[in-house]
This record gives sequence, structure tokens and C-alpha cells, in this order.
Amino acid sequence: MSQWQPDSWRQKPILQQPTYHNQQHLRDVEQKLKSYPPLVFAAETRQLFKELGQVADGNGFLLQGGDCAESFDEFNAPKIRDTFKVILQMAIVLTFAGRCPVTKVARMAGQYAKPRSGDLETIDGVSLPSYRGDIINSFEFTEASRMPDPQRMLDAYHRSASTLNLLRAFAQGGLADLHQVNRWNMAFVENNPLKERYQDVARRIQDSLEFMDVMGINTNNTPTLHETTLYTSHEALLLNYEQALTRVDTLTDKWYNCSAHMLWIGERTRQLDHAHIEFFRGIHNPIGVKVGPSMQGDELIRLIDALNPDNTSGRLTLITRMGADNLEDKLPALLRRVKQEGRNVVWSSDPMHGNTFKASSGYKTRNFDAILREIQQFFAAHRSEGTHAGGIHLEMTGQHVTECTGGAYQISDDDLAQAYKTQCDPRLNADQVLEMAFLVADHLKVS
Ligand code: PEP
Ligand code: CO
Repeated sequence: MSQWQPDSWRQKPILQQPTYHNQQHLRDVEQKLKSYPPLVFAAETRQLFKELGQVADGNGFLLQGGDCAESFDEFNAPKIRDTFKVILQMAIVLTFAGRCPVTKVARMAGQYAKPRSGDLETIDGVSLPSYRGDIINSFEFTEASRMPDPQRMLDAYHRSASTLNLLRAFAQGGLADLHQVNRWNMAFVENNPLKERYQDVARRIQDSLEFMDVMGINTNNTPTLHETTLYTSHEALLLNYEQALTRVDTLTDKWYNCSAHMLWIGERTRQLDHAHIEFFRGIHNPIGVKVGPSMQGDELIRLIDALNPDNTSGRLTLITRMGADNLEDKLPALLRRVKQEGRNVVWSSDPMHGNTFKASSGYKTRNFDAILREIQQFFAAHRSEGTHAGGIHLEMTGQHVTECTGGAYQISDDDLAQAYKTQCDPRLNADQVLEMAFLVADHLKVS
């Protein structure tokens, strides 16, 4: 194989990229980004790698979630705080139920680039370039807004830096206190129409915390009760940006992509001889790759070997997104094959992207029960194949949006218009995502 360099992807075919009209402006922006400080540090990234290694070996669970696409307009502290809070609320439930450590990875602080099904969008006979995420162009349907603008990479960098700064402050500064987190869960359960179903777990967590308190294990002497670590991740789609933030770590002399701790390759850009695989094979971060229903066993083994030739546990997370109707048919054979061939991977379930449809109201949506069904089948497949169901990957927000139907509040097709805010895919809202955590907890107990 030819020598890897941060820019060797440029020699390969590439999909899902914008066409920048001013190449000089693009080069200037890339140059500037290259001189900017890294957003994350290699040592943190290695810590995540180690934790995911434990997950791959069957001792842990990966909780990954956040917006489908972060947006420049909705860049504010309450939004960041609310998503941080629900991730923590979910994590406490999953940790308790699974009796295993939960590694938390946010789709935040850089989730700005989106693959699209077409290069153009047509409304009322007018065709313009598709919206590709705020790092590339703007959502508004005008010619000027849809023009890809390199300056947006710098804007995305600065927003990612501020988001990370706030997440780090929340994680260390008291907002992650377990007593507090479970008080929020108790309040959530108390107000939920299905409270009988959820309150048992929340109460038992509360009892455990009170018991520890009595035994003298408290926030003054046990920092883990008070602080946490939340890692960041995004789809590394726009390689001009990702390359500029890829740096040599001075301790190990290895290349790390310092735009986030974990990066993943989307379902549409994982062709073996293409640019994204080339770029990813040279960075030393833990990485993910989406695996859809068309994936065959041979192809999967080739993909694994291209991305993790040393078969290191924690390097590679396979994020399956089969759709509730396909999973039973497709996943078990892949699990069997990977196990037979002795490849070490984390298996995580994205129950969102295979369950999207257009509602009769015209909104793109997903149904709570289909999402839950895909997760349940994911656990069942792992149980029957003797492999470890290692994680879930959700599109979610801490806000009270109405984008997915169903859940205890029974959001219907007609309700979607009330608070449909996503610029891309529909997300589970704060209530739906916590319900999901309580329901997934039931599976963790038996798996
Ligand atoms: C996503 O995670 O937002 C996404 C586009 O997923 P996929 O690549 O699986 O379609
Ligand atoms: Co999405």
C-alpha cells in the first residue's frame, strides 16, 4: 500500500463533497485552520480508545448521541446544557442496569457536515445545491445561501471550540453530580404518563446513592460521583477540514485527528478504494463506520482489515443501521462472520437511519416503536450469536421538539408541525430519549 499522508486522500475518488468556486479562498482557510490549536488532545483520545477496547472485549457499553446536524443558528448554552443533561441521565440508567461502565460520546462540537441523497434540491421548479450542513452552506433556499463557502469551516471550528469548552466545564464543574442527575430522572419519571414502568429503576438508583452516602462515600471524597468525562465525535465527511486539524502527537509521534476524539465514516462514503477510507486508515483515533443492510460478510471483513489491520480492540466501532424490518435478516450472519474470523470490534446500534420515512403530513419522521424494535432485535441477535451488544448511537436532543412520532406522550403525525426544528433528520426529544434509556435498561439486565 502506498505511503499514508494527511493529504493522500486527495489522490482518491471522493463522494459527498461541495464544489468550492474560489479555490484560493479554500486554500487560505485550510492554511489558517492548520495553524489553529487542536480541539482535543491525543492523550484524551487514547483514553477513549482504551475504554472502547474494554467495550470490544465485552466489558462496557458505548452511548453515543446528539443532533443529526448541529446548527449555527441554534448555537447556544441552554441547548448544549440540555443535551449534556439527557446524555448523563441516560448513562446513569444504563450503568445501573447493565452493571458495567458506560462510555459517553456526544455527537457534538463538530457535527456540521452532512451527506445528502442528491446534489440538487428542487422546490417549485427551482433547483439549487443541496444543503450539506452549516460547515459548508446554509439551509435557506436561496442561491447565495446554498453556495459553499470555505469561511464556514472557520465558523464551525470556533463554535466547536466553545461547545467543547462548555461541555468540559459541565463535566467537571458540578452539573454531572450523580445525585443531581438522578433527581432529574426522578422528576422525569414522576411526570411521565408511563411512570409505573420507569420508576422502579430510578428509585433503586436513588436508594443506592443514599446507601453510599450513609456509608461515607460522597462527593467530597469520591470525585467520580461528582465529575464525568464526555467525549466528542462527528462524521468526518469534509476532509479539507479534517486534514487541517490532523496533527502529530509529540509524545508518540503518531497522527491524530484533533477535531474530535472519535470520528466515523458514513454509509455513503465507505467505498474501499475511496478517499475517506484512505484518510481514516492513517489517523490513530478510535473510529466508527456505518454498516447498512446491503453489507455482505466478505466486504465487511475487507473493510475491517483496511481500517484496523492490527486488529486492535477499541480502534473500530461498527455502527449498524439496518432498519427494524431488516435487522433479523441481515445482522446475525455478519456477527457470526466477524466472530469466526476473530476480528475485534465494538458493535453499536444506530436504530435511527434505517427507520426514516415521510409522514402523510410531509415531514420526515421516525417512529419510537420502530427505533425500539431495532434496538431490541440488536440485543437479541447478539444474545443468540454469543457476541457483545456494545452500544447505541442515537439522534437526539435535550429539547422538547416534535420530530419523531410515538413515545409515552403519543406524538402523532399531526403533532409534528408543533416543534419540528431539525434541519436534517428527526431526533428523539428529551422525554423520548429517556424512555428509550429505561426500556434499553431492561435488555442490558438480561444480556
Ligand atoms: C448520520 O449519522 O447522520 C448519517 C448520515 O448516517 P448514515 O451514514 O448511516 O446514513
Ligand atoms: Co442523520
